[in-house]
Amino acid sequence: MSDSDQYGSSNELSAAVCNMHTAIVSLTEELTAIDLYNQRADVCKDKELKKILIHNRDDEKEHASMLLEWIQRNDPKFSGEMTDSLFTKKSITKR
Ligand SMILES: [Fe+2]
Repeated sequence: MSDSDQYGSSNELSAAVCNMHTAIVSLTEELTAIDLYNQRADVCKDKELKKILIHNRDDEKEHASMLLEWIQRNDPKFSGEMTDSLFTKKSITKR
């Protein structure tokens, strides 16, 4: 995903929508980085390089979490869904 996925021109979109787009695109990039580092670490035969890749992967998890927190603070509906779904012992699929 890139900024070219933005619907309409920046002039037409509100600042709030543009900011949310930036956060969602950035979150997608962080999740992709986690996935790539995870795969690279999994197949890496050099122990020291593997540790670096795992460290980098986990740094990306911090970045992704920061973006999720920003989204939660700026999207009331998303916030409500997160409140209902995250950090509970409830069934994930039974609502
Ligand atoms: Fe990152």
